[in-house]
Amino acid sequence: MAVLDRATRRLIETLKYKVRMLTALTVVLAVALTVMTVLYITKDGEAYSAEVSSVTNIGSNGTTTAESDQSSLDETSSKEEGKASSENKASSDKVSSDSSSVVDAVATPGDDINSWNLKLVNSKNPLPNGFTVKTEKIKASYARDVGMLYDARAVSYLNAMCAAAEKDGINLLVISSHRTNARQTTLYNNQVNKQRANHPELSESEIKKKAATISAYPGTSEHELGLAVDFNSVEESFENTKEYQWLKTHAADYGFILRYTKQKQSITGVIYEPWHYRYVGEKHAKKINQLGYCLEEYIEYLKNNNK
Ligand code: DAL
Ligand code: ZN
Repeated sequence: MAVLDRATRRLIETLKYKVRMLTALTVVLAVALTVMTVLYITKDGEAYSAEVSSVTNIGSNGTTTAESDQSSLDETSSKEEGKASSENKASSDKVSSDSSSVVDAVATPGDDINSWNLKLVNSKNPLPNGFTVKTEKIKASYARDVGMLYDARAVSYLNAMCAAAEKDGINLLVISSHRTNARQTTLYNNQVNKQRANHPELSESEIKKKAATISAYPGTSEHELGLAVDFNSVEESFENTKEYQWLKTHAADYGFILRYTKQKQSITGVIYEPWHYRYVGEKHAKKINQLGYCLEEYIEYLKNNNK
C-alpha cells in the first residue's frame, strides 16, 4: 500500500511538473505571439503612412514623385525625364506596394465653393506658401512612372476612370500628376530657356509671360495642387485619339474636366491642352460641361448664384 502510495505520489508530482512546464510554454508562446503581432502592426503602419500619406510641401527642395513634362510644346529634355524617373524609382524603393482603392465612382464630395475639389489655382490665384497636400500612389498599371502621386481624396476616382476606360479597350496612361514646387520650378525655368532661345526678338518679361502660358509659374500650377493629371501625350494631336474621345464622353462621370480648352485660352491664360484633366467632382464636372464654362467661369457663376 505504502509502495502504491509512493508510486501515486510520484505520478502526481510528475503530472504537476508537466502541467507547470506546459503552462510556462504557453505563456512563452503567448508573449512571443504578442511581440510578433505588435512588430507586424508597427511595420505595416509605417509602410501605410509612407505610401498613403506622402505629404509634399511646396517650397521644399526634394522631389517626391516622378514627373513627365509637357513635351515639345512644353518643358523637359530627355535628360530631365531620366532624372525624374530615377527620383521616382528612389521613392518607389521606399513604397513598393500599391494601396489605392476604388471607391464608388459616382460619389461626389461636398459642393461648397470653398471645398478642396473646387480650389481654383491659376496665375491670379496662387497656392499659399507652404501649401501641403496628402497624396497617394496612382494604381501602378495606369501610371507611366513608378510611384506617381495624386491627391489622396481623389485618387480612387482617377483609378476608377482608368479602369473603366480599360474595360472599354482604352488605355489611359498618366504621364504627369502631382508635382512639387521644386519640380514645377524646373519645368518653368526650362520653358523660359526654350522661349528665350526660340524668340530672341522678345523682351525678358515677354518671354516669361509666354512661358507661363505653357508651363505654369511655380506656385500657380494645378499639378502642385495635386488634382491635375496629364494623359498619354502632351501633343495637340492627342485630340485625334480614341483616348481623347473616350475622356470627352466619360471623364465627367468620374468627376474630371478638360481644364484648358481651345475656346477659353483668354480666360485660363493657358494654351490648349487636350491631355490635361482636373478633378472637381462628378456634379460639378457635369454642370461645367453643360454650361460650357471653364473652371474660372464656373467659380464666378457659383459666387453669383450664392452656391
Ligand atoms: N501646363 C500647365 C499649365 C501647368 O504647368 O500646370
Ligand atoms: Zn498638365
